[in-house]
Amino acid sequence: MKKSSVKRSWAEPYKIKMVELLKMSSKEDREKALIAAGYNTFLLRSADVYIDLLTDSGTSAMSDRQWAGMMMGDEAYAGSENYYNLEKVVKKVYGYRYLIPTHQGRGAEHILSKILIKKGDVIPGNMYFTTTRLHQELSGGRFEDIIIDEAHDPESEFPFKGNVDLGKLDQIVSRHGASKIPYVSIATSVNMAGGQPISMENLRNLRQYTAEKGIRVIHDMTRVAENAHFIKVREKGYSGKSIREIIHEICSLTDGATMSAKKDALVNIGGFLAVNERQVFEQARSLVVVYEGLHTYGGLAGRDMEAMAIGIEESVHDDHIQARIGQVEYLGRKLMESGIPIVRPIGGHGIFIDAKKFLPHIDQNNYPAQSLAAEIFLDSGVRSMERGIVSAGRNPDTGKNNKPELELVRLTIPRRVYTQAHMDVVAESVIEVHRNRKRIRGLKMIYEPKYLRFFQARFKPV
Ligand code: F0G
Repeated sequence: MKKSSVKRSWAEPYKIKMVELLKMSSKEDREKALIAAGYNTFLLRSADVYIDLLTDSGTSAMSDRQWAGMMMGDEAYAGSENYYNLEKVVKKVYGYRYLIPTHQGRGAEHILSKILIKKGDVIPGNMYFTTTRLHQELSGGRFEDIIIDEAHDPESEFPFKGNVDLGKLDQIVSRHGASKIPYVSIATSVNMAGGQPISMENLRNLRQYTAEKGIRVIHDMTRVAENAHFIKVREKGYSGKSIREIIHEICSLTDGATMSAKKDALVNIGGFLAVNERQVFEQARSLVVVYEGLHTYGGLAGRDMEAMAIGIEESVHDDHIQARIGQVEYLGRKLMESGIPIVRPIGGHGIFIDAKKFLPHIDQNNYPAQSLAAEIFLDSGVRSMERGIVSAGRNPDTGKNNKPELELVRLTIPRRVYTQAHMDVVAESVIEVHRNRKRIRGLKMIYEPKYLRFFQARFKPV
């Protein structure tokens, strides 16, 4: 059959059965709310938000099947049926041998870091993530960034900005010795770089290198399905493969994984640690009891595990992931067409506005991204998140502020929640704020909590 040359649109592969009403607020209400929140969008009450793009974490809409699964919760303290269903799905879809459920991703990071990291260890990774790095540090380790330089450049169009620079890794291995490196920490769809993917080729090369040195690869698989989509559309040899097949191959190149199921896996709460080594599993099974709950529920209700098992299956459908990323791209293109500086290529889970470019008159010490997130909320009630100098925190040795190259505002798109019309409203608001950008002043921090300061820090206009 001859292929038609007329472009055909995709649409969401679902229809809507239940809705949640939104509330629009006045500018006065928003101003009051913002002041009460210390100009930190994490401290806003959700009732004051119109379109909530703070995060794609735990904010997905579950399907009717997932809700039906919730009714099938086997709330036994030990040996819940739902645990065995989840274990079966994790083995089948991801291929890891042993499963430890946890209440969310950081629960898994905590347990894994405690088991594998000793004081003085070094953990190379393809850009830090806030909770992951903190757990590495709390276990006595130090994170070292080995992502390729392109990842730090918002304008680089490199298709796999999540890739590891093997030269950087090799230097770290030469300097410290492989025995000081319990594992290389690899995220798929690198969050802090803008949801940028790692290529299969790079993973394969990494696998070969680490196998020679006897170093594990641990996979932060929070957004592995989105990464698989980019491999399918960008990497040679993968266009004919299914998302499911690609995910399986990615996981097979790693030794274990931490998962925040609140993202890709389409649930509102949940996560897990999955490993292939029996000995690590046994240690994890003993630690999870201390921090999360028995090894067959890990801080979750039976019904949560059932929803996760079903969510994982739904998350690996090609049409789901195509529509999911299609919606993110729709918003990104709209912003790009209006000259808004965003991280390119458009990533998997959100649009990352380059706040340094958007607000070149604001010094990084006055938090351009934090200020921009506050202004967007003020304009329209759209809530976004800072991913810049506030999120980067302080160097644990010197106490000095980390100064990341990337100073970004993340418009994160929840899965299956908002429509294309919502994306239009978001774009219009950002464009309006851009038009008035010269009026925006920076902020100063007036309260700084000890850990993960971006969650609870408070600010005041300068
Ligand atoms: N790893 C990545 C890449 C993440 O994005 C997150 C959470 C975690 C681990 C931790 O998982 O929240 O379930 O404990 N990211 C959220 C976000 C908070 O908004 O990006 P968690």
